[in-house]
Amino acid sequence: MEAATSNPSSKRIALVTGGNKGVGLETCRQLASKGLKVVLTARNEARGLEAVEGVRRSGADVVFHQLDVIDPDSVARLADFVRDQFGKLDILVNNAAVGGVEYGQEFDTNEEKHIGSEEVRQELNDVDNLTEGRLDELLEKFMKDFEAGALEPHGWPTKFSAYKVAKAAMNAYSRILARRHPELRVNCAHPGFVKTDMSMGSGVLTPEEGARNLVKVALLPDGGPTGAYFAMGEEAPFV
Ligand SMILES: NC(=O)c1ccc[n+]([C@@H]2O[C@H](COP(=O)([O-])OP(=O)(O)OC[C@H]3O[C@@H](n4cnc5c(N)ncnc54)[C@H](OP(=O)(O)O)[C@@H]3O)[C@@H](O)[C@H]2O)c1
Repeated sequence: MEAATSNPSSKRIALVTGGNKGVGLETCRQLASKGLKVVLTARNEARGLEAVEGVRRSGADVVFHQLDVIDPDSVARLADFVRDQFGKLDILVNNAAVGGVEYGQEFDTNEEKHIGSEEVRQELNDVDNLTEGRLDELLEKFMKDFEAGALEPHGWPTKFSAYKVAKAAMNAYSRILARRHPELRVNCAHPGFVKTDMSMGSGVLTPEEGARNLVKVALLPDGGPTGAYFAMGEEAPFV
């Protein structure tokens, strides 16, 4: 995002969603340690401010702004803040997510690879022809099948189904954005299986190690890959 301002910041600005804990918090720490100014965002102001305090103790240049990614007013307020304060945004790490609690099921980190029917998979992977409208239709179909208790017969995943379908849709949308904005780098990154609240502490990587896999992608140079998928910091196929 670039916008006109009378006093643009000379430092690179990175913004992380869901920055108050887990991989997001470590991503803020690491980006700040590399000399960037970091906007740590969180949906809960108290949790976000506490996280900022912790990161600042190491001398990091980090500011807080509230962001609930599912609240359009909150998104608009944040966009105004970034435009007014910095006049630009160099890096956005769209990290926030909820896993959904399904007790007794193994947390599966290959979410975007197991999204159900071959037809849907092919459509999501056909990035040259996929549109936002079609993506919305596929998600509406998923919601209908979910509500009707008809996931399995229609080829959708039955475990962590909303999480997996949402991630697959987000990956596909990232590829649409990459196609539309060749001047930007728009990539997807899987941090690995990380010990956080989302994985109920059952991951194999520490949040520091998981964040390193995201920071590597976030700091790809101008002219680097776009519309790509990275697993554990290395480029990998989407499906
Ligand atoms: N952990 C893994 O093994 C693993 C594997 C693959 C991918 N990932 C992905 O890595 C990312 C980080 O996950 P994590 O393991 O660090 O999870 P986490 O510790 O549960 O952190 C999730 C973060 O997202 C925030 N969040 C949730 N809903 C939000 C909303 N509506 N608006 C703003 N923030 C919101 C949470 O805020 P609150 O504190 O307010 O809830 C929290 O800060 C996620 O996208 C996840 O899908 C993780």
